[in-house]
Parts: sequence; C-alpha cells; structure tokens
Amino acid sequence: MTDNNSPPGSPKVNPDHNSEANLLPKDDSSLENIVRRFQDSMSLAKKHKFWETQPVGQFKDAGDTSLPEGPIEPPTPLSEVKQEPYNLPSPYEWTTCDMDLEETCNEVYNLLKNNYVEDDENMFRFNYSKEFLRWALRPPGYYKSWHIGVRAKTSKKLVAFITGVPARIRVRDEVVKMAEINFLCVHKKLRSKRLAPVMIKEVTRRVHLENIWQAAYTAGVVLPTPITTCQYWHRSLNPKKLIDVGFSRLGPRMTMSRTIKLYKLPDQPATPGFRKMELRDVPAVTRLLRNYLSQFVVSPDFDENDVEHWLLPTEDVVDSYLVESPKTHDITDFCSFYTLPSSILGNQNYSILKAAYSYYNVSTKTPLLQLMNDALIVAKKKDFDVFNALDVMHNESFLKELKFGPGDGQLHYYLYNYRIRNALRTSELGLVLL
Ligand SMILES: CC(C)(COP(=O)(O)OP(=O)(O)OC[C@H]1O[C@@H](n2cnc3c(N)ncnc32)[C@H](O)[C@@H]1OP(=O)(O)O)[C@@H](O)C(=O)NCCC(=O)NCCS
Repeated sequence: MTDNNSPPGSPKVNPDHNSEANLLPKDDSSLENIVRRFQDSMSLAKKHKFWETQPVGQFKDAGDTSLPEGPIEPPTPLSEVKQEPYNLPSPYEWTTCDMDLEETCNEVYNLLKNNYVEDDENMFRFNYSKEFLRWALRPPGYYKSWHIGVRAKTSKKLVAFITGVPARIRVRDEVVKMAEINFLCVHKKLRSKRLAPVMIKEVTRRVHLENIWQAAYTAGVVLPTPITTCQYWHRSLNPKKLIDVGFSRLGPRMTMSRTIKLYKLPDQPATPGFRKMELRDVPAVTRLLRNYLSQFVVSPDFDENDVEHWLLPTEDVVDSYLVESPKTHDITDFCSFYTLPSSILGNQNYSILKAAYSYYNVSTKTPLLQLMNDALIVAKKKDFDVFNALDVMHNESFLKELKFGPGDGQLHYYLYNYRIRNALRTSELGLVLL
C-alpha cells in the first residue's frame, strides 16, 4: 500500500497465476512487488489519521481478549445526531442520487466506469452496469438518502459517490441492523484531498439518522481492522481471450490448444433437476439458505423479501439455479452468481471482460463440487469469460479441483462499530458484498 490514495480492490480483477491451473506465476521479484511487500509489512505501524478516530477495531487492540465483542460505542439519542451535513471544500456540494432517474443513474454509472476500482497494473476497471447499480442500491427498505453524491458547484458534474443499503447481519447469535457501505469513489482528479473521510462521515451520519449504528464493508486496502482477509480465485472459461487481454498467461510447457482443452466444460449441467430459480421457489430457497448460513460466524439474516430481491434471477445482474429432486420435488441445492464486467483498458481487440462472481451456494444433496461445476457450465453457456470466487464459506472445497487459480490481491472485510475479538477464518464468513 503506497498511501491513502492507492486504489484498492485489485484482487477483484487480478489475473490468475497458479500452477494448479497451469498458468505462469507473475514475476514476484520485480522492484514494484518488493516495494509493495515492504510497504505492506509497514502498514500495521502506519498512522490512519481518520480511521484512528472512528469506532472500529484499532490495531493496538488486536489480540486484547479483555475487550468485549459487540458494539464499540453505544447509540446516542437521535436528537444528538448532527442534523446538518458535514462541510465539503467550498467548490463542492452534496447531492442525493435518485437511482430511479435515468439521468442520475447514468451519471453514477459514468463516474464509476471511469474512476472506480482498478487492478494494480491498471489493466482492468470495474464496469458495474446500470441495472446492477439499481439492483444493488434498491433492496427492501432502502433509503434514498444513503445514495450520496458530491457535485462541483459550478458545473454540477458528479465527482464523488458513496452508498449504504440496510441489511440485517448476524454475528454469532446476534442479528444486528447494519448498513452495507459500497461504491466509495472519488474522481481521479480529486484524489488525496481527504474527501473520502468526509464522505464516510456523511454516510455514517445519515445511517445514524435511521437509528442504525453498525456497518459492514470491504476494501482492497488494509484499514483498522479486518475481521477477515479473503482471496479471490479465478476460473478461466474463455482462456484464449483471458490470455489475449493479459488477464492470465500461458503456463509453462502449455500451448494454447492444450490450455483450451484444460478448461473445456461439458455442454449441459450434470445434475438431474438442475434448473433456474423462479418466483415460486422463494420460500424453499429462503429456508435452505437460512439453514445453511446459520453455521457461519457472520452472515446476512435473509427473509423471503431479501431472497426475492437478492437471489431471484435478474437478466445480466444475478443468476440463480437450484436442484429440484426429480422424485420428491424438494429443493435440495442452490447456487448463484452475479454479473460484474470490467473494462479492459487499452486493448486493441477487446473492451469488456465478462466476469461472473460466485454469490451464495448451498449444497445438501448434490456435492458442492458438482453443483459448482454445473454453475461453471451455465456461466460458460452465458458467455462469461471468467468465474470468480472468494475463499469464503465452503468454497475452498472446490476451488482447486475445479481449476480455479488464486488471484494476487486480497479483499478485507470490516465491521464499523462492532468488535470481533479474534479475526475469523475465511471459511467462517458467510457474507458476500457486491
Ligand atoms: C477509495 C478512494 C475514494 C479514496 O479517496 P482518496 O482521494 O484516495 O483518499 P482521501 O485523501 O480522500 O482519504 C484518505 C483516507 O481514506 C481512507 N481510505 C482510502 N480508501 C478507503 C476505502 N476503500 N475504504 C475506507 N477508507 C478508505 C484512507 O485510509 C485514508 O484514511 P486514513 O488516513 O485514516 O488511513 C479513491 O482512491 C477512489 O475512488 N479509488 C478508486 C475506487 C475505490 O477503490 N473505491 C474503494 C472500493 S473499496
């Protein structure tokens, strides 16, 4: 990590480089990598002028078992919550982004398309679609006031963005109302001016106004203090394109045709009764998912409304499949992934990398390995180039066998105003944020 302005999130789009998948490891000894490793090793000692003032686990308290789990600060009476927005530098003003408006949605889409998360080598940048943004930002009970923009006063140009959506998150046996904070973005030309802390404080204030005092968020950068640190794994579906665009490299002693053969998948899913989820499946999927997620230390507390919103298939946004037992018609297994393309920066032949991201998967009768192989098959048929998955929940049980290779960055998970005594293992985490 170089400084506060280093763009995080690279693990989300980094090339795979795993010998299991027969792809070349990236050169680990480059000066850049040595400098990065040194800076990473220094990051614990580094000062976080903003985050040190916030109710989050502080590095100095790591491993202090005398501190209780749970809220770090108690709620304050709502009348004591600051009623007016934080001050922005004078050329800028706050705006609430109404994602129902096509024009506003376009502005948000373009800000993110041009300024959001890139990989470390600036080869790829997330390109969340408008439909995806509307889906991600309008779940049951959402607050428009939590979709916060910053405009330049004179031109009215949108130059920064941050959002929250409400969620019930279970931590051990406590269900806590939280905000899931996402899409923090400051225009490239306005970086390193300490705008991000003002935006974080403003979204926090608006969350407090709804009597909510905790939040969950992820970042590619190390901040005080991750509850766990995950790794992305990548499964090539279209290896030729991935190699052509520099997402992955041809492994040693591998030819293109051998590589294509290595990643080839059957034309049809193997599991009898494997089909797309429908509206009528919402109650069964909710039961299946609630039961499955209860084993993890941290997970969302989904009800039927949440499942309908987050998991019912939406074209080019989220795909969900389940296994209906041909005999009993019971819904026994479930898998899902969301669609998040990245722009390919400066390639002559391709401009978009179509990526599927593993979301929530539940196996009770079909082995998870077989279920996820079927997910790969349907993703391939839908023309995705790559299928990404974090090492959360039970994902480690299929990653290597299904020829996923590890990415080279990390994704850190955080809770705001909620202390977890010891960091979780990634397999104890049952939460996927978009
Ligand atoms: C992330 C981003 C908004 C930060 O803005 P910036 O101009 O680089 O940094 P600022 O000077 O405004 O603020 C720096 C402070 O924000 C914190 N910060 C930086 N990135 C952060 C993140 N992703 N989440 C929370 N805090 C973050 C820094 O740690 C620093 O606080 P500290 O001094 O306590 O450590 C900006 O770099 C950006 O838009 N990057 C591309 C998109 C992106 O990566 N978004 C985050 C996705 S998780």
